[in-house]
Amino acid sequence: MPRGGFVKALILSGGSGTRLRPLTYSQQKQLIPIANKPVLFYAIEDVIEAGAKDIGIIVGPNKEQVAETVMSEDWNANIEFLYQGDPRGLAQTILVAEDFLDDDFVMYLGDNILKGGIVEHAERFHSLNPDSLVMLTQVADPQRFGVADIDDSGKIKRLVEKPNVPPSNYALVGIYFFKQVIIDACHQIKPSWRNELEITDAIQWLIENGYRVEASIVSSWWKDTGKPEDILEANRLILDDIMPKNMGTTDNSRIIGRAVIDLGTSISNSIVKGPCCIGKDCKVIDSYIGPYTSIGKGCQIKETEIEDSIIMDGSNIMNAGRIVESLVGRNVRIRESDGKPKGHRLIIGDNSEIML
Ligand code: DAU
Repeated sequence: MPRGGFVKALILSGGSGTRLRPLTYSQQKQLIPIANKPVLFYAIEDVIEAGAKDIGIIVGPNKEQVAETVMSEDWNANIEFLYQGDPRGLAQTILVAEDFLDDDFVMYLGDNILKGGIVEHAERFHSLNPDSLVMLTQVADPQRFGVADIDDSGKIKRLVEKPNVPPSNYALVGIYFFKQVIIDACHQIKPSWRNELEITDAIQWLIENGYRVEASIVSSWWKDTGKPEDILEANRLILDDIMPKNMGTTDNSRIIGRAVIDLGTSISNSIVKGPCCIGKDCKVIDSYIGPYTSIGKGCQIKETEIEDSIIMDGSNIMNAGRIVESLVGRNVRIRESDGKPKGHRLIIGDNSEIML
């Protein structure tokens, strides 16, 4: 048996990511890079580490983009894409994947990221042998999540989705272990007030019908990258653990701390201070790249200071002053205006946010 003992995994990469607009107009939210790797890849790596040989990935309207990105890598598992269409709830994805789910399985939300992987939790599922095992972690804002009501012995009494008055501060992490009976539960439940088939309702159905649901507490960090500030926080947490590696070229520059600089990238007359990562084929000239910054491939940064930010592939930033705590999408151009009168000249898409 592989380490976590799971052969089947279902990873969710559907939905439309409205809370991350405008980034998600042209890019599926699970493909947003954290430390230069799509969020979704962390989920795929985790399930493979737990033994998954067959991975079903739920995709929505952007199915080609997800499939192309995933298949650009070699994975040590069979991957198939299961088309959901419009997002009608986490439990509905189980119905979409019903034929694929012919064994125990782990379900992993593709916008979740967890330090340390899932092997220990998968092993707990196998040793306790319940009908479902959910992962819980303490959060400051339980209203944003599914929440577990647990008794003094740690047993789950009830699960509620995004309650106004949370029964505890234990949020459901978006990683669940199931036996096949969950498929029956998903057939039994009705859509919620937001017209979705909720996975919390399906697990609640298991509890109410005498099936055994166990919990596993996550003690390391976990992030649901649903909002821009969560993405920046996940980026910081991942960069905190990176190992330095300089495969680029430097000229009259200083590299301080743990920086990953990829092939074909040149750094001239600049300071790069880790933890940070700079992707392939970038040019950094007369600039400062500070801690907790991830710069995607093919970017040009000139006479600019960037710190605590994510700059995605192909962006070009010239004489832009100091950029902090920012998320910059792909192929964006930022430069100082050269004409008079002096002022900010902006060409900005819908739902953008700019702080000057
Ligand atoms: O992140 C943890 C939380 O995830 C849990 O605490 C909640 O109990 C659970 O309902 C879920 O809440 P969210 O509101 O964060 O779920 P969201 O709609 O953002 O969907 C999570 C992921 O699943 C996201 O990557 C999109 C994908 N998805 C979602 C739906 C509703 C699909 O692929 N299909 C869908 O129909």
